[in-house]
Amino acid sequence: MPPEQPRPLLDVRDLTVSYGGLRALVGVSLSVPEGCVVALLGANGAGKTTTLRAITGLARPSAGAIEFDGVRIDGRRASQIARMGVLHVPEGRGIFPSLTVRANLEMSRQLVGGGDDLVDQGIERFPALGRRVEQLAGTLSGGEQQMLALARVLIARPRLVLLDEISMGLAPMIVAQLFDEVKAMAAAGVTILLVEQYVNAALELADYVYVLDKGRMVDVGEPADLQEDGVLASYLGS
Ligand SMILES: Nc1ncnc2c1ncn2[C@@H]1O[C@H](COP(=O)(O)OP(=O)(O)O)[C@@H](O)[C@H]1O
Ligand SMILES: [Mg+2]
Repeated sequence: MPPEQPRPLLDVRDLTVSYGGLRALVGVSLSVPEGCVVALLGANGAGKTTTLRAITGLARPSAGAIEFDGVRIDGRRASQIARMGVLHVPEGRGIFPSLTVRANLEMSRQLVGGGDDLVDQGIERFPALGRRVEQLAGTLSGGEQQMLALARVLIARPRLVLLDEISMGLAPMIVAQLFDEVKAMAAAGVTILLVEQYVNAALELADYVYVLDKGRMVDVGEPADLQEDGVLASYLGS
């Protein structure tokens, strides 16, 4: 990032993460400017999920640094990082299936210690959930579960949201609805780092795109530049 740019909200430098003998990430750097949407793309197994897990404190880097708002967060506990405003919708569904919708939202409220009205605000914002507040989250449809995951993140007053393939396994119409919610979140000023298999949807939303290949960062640019250069096609086979 050029020196005249303001400090990025998230700055990942030379990150290496290993699982036993396997190096899942090698010297990965990326930065997310405040108020921007950044997409992280790459084939299956490229290391996208591992990158998000390292940022949220769920995977331990063996080298490198992660700064959030100018503060080193690598080595901190996941709960501590979440309280700083870094919220994660993990791969799969970021909900507690055996709790009700309301209890799921209540847990997010407790994370930030907000007032009771926070839960009601979350329910109001997602009318589909409002009709199902007493239903067990695991009995919601896949799309509703992802809506709940987004509502949980919003209630926690995020500064940075990490989204890991929220469209996975969902019908295109539902994916479009979810992306409308992500767009609204971005328009409200939330900074977003998103991992997606729906490359086109991600490119439409993103200000910047990073491309991971076999644990290494191979490209970064604005969506139009990467598409023009054929970079995405060569790494994603699309
Ligand atoms: N818990 C784990 N234990 C061992 N290897 C893992 C684990 N999680 C991921 N990996 C490996 O690390 C590499 C990167 O995985 P991942 O970050 O999940 O990629 P992506 O999200 O891009 O598909 C892959 O080779 C994967 O098999
Ligand atoms: Mg993944």
